[in-house]
Amino acid sequence: MTLKPYVLTEKSFFLYQEVAYPLEERGLQFGDGVYEVVRIYHGKYFLLQEHIDRLYRSAEAIRLAVPFEKEDLIEKLEQLRKMNDVKEDAIVYLQVTRGSFPRAHAFPAENRPNLFAYIREMPRKLQEAENGVRAILTRDVRWEYCYIKSLNLLANVLAKQEAAERGAFEAIFYRDGKITEGSSSNIFLVQGGKVYTHPATERILNGITRMKVKQFCDLLHIPFIEEAFATEDIAKADEMFLTSTTASIIPIIQVEEQLIAGGKPGEVTRKLQAAYEEAAGLAMKNKNASRK
Ligand code: PDD
Repeated sequence: MTLKPYVLTEKSFFLYQEVAYPLEERGLQFGDGVYEVVRIYHGKYFLLQEHIDRLYRSAEAIRLAVPFEKEDLIEKLEQLRKMNDVKEDAIVYLQVTRGSFPRAHAFPAENRPNLFAYIREMPRKLQEAENGVRAILTRDVRWEYCYIKSLNLLANVLAKQEAAERGAFEAIFYRDGKITEGSSSNIFLVQGGKVYTHPATERILNGITRMKVKQFCDLLHIPFIEEAFATEDIAKADEMFLTSTTASIIPIIQVEEQLIAGGKPGEVTRKLQAAYEEAAGLAMKNKNASRK
């Protein structure tokens, strides 16, 4: 997966190799920062405004000032995309930290945040979307502010590694017997034609894709119930799926040893996948042709 040569920082555009930070960088030393991952389909940002809005919400939650006005940042990201001549499926990774200062836990006296954004090619996960994936369960040991998209991802990293070592695509967190979310995704269960997912409290990241799924459910008259479900409910699930910016909507066909819907992607999941494709401009080209 190719990395694009140009990078945006709080100062200007640079070549990737030209950007260097001191060892005493608060993102590196404390995870004192926030980030976003935005999808690019066929060279165009998808849901950029929504991601930028969440970045500013995350930054505000940790009392960090993003070094650009929102509109300015969006313009700069568009410029970055053009400079890199992005035409394929990719992501932009964007991070803001409290800056580089001599190491001390409390905030520095000066407000001098670091920001960077780079673009990397990232093909869609078509095979997973088609066939579905396996997941494992793992205890949610994270802090109480999971609604902030912060750089502190150690619990997520350990959970994902456990999944990888056990041959699964995702690790699903549970806390107090209830499913919260995945290590890098939101988790949904379909039962009796209704979609259940953990409410957007401090215990999960309110995914941009999750919010889209909520809209699709409204449009398709599928009840969307923001109610945490229990680990035992998985055995009774008609369908399960996960969502994230990089994954879009992927069916979950097995959790631990439990097969979901006989190990096949379900009907509701398929409908939501189709709605996503349509919204992201990925739906079959012949559809457009027939409209002309
Ligand atoms: N992660 N929950 C967690 C813990 C996540 O890390 C993510 C996304 C999501 C889904 O959010 P969204 O739909 O806005 O991508 C939920 C990104 C993709 C990442 O860290 O790479």
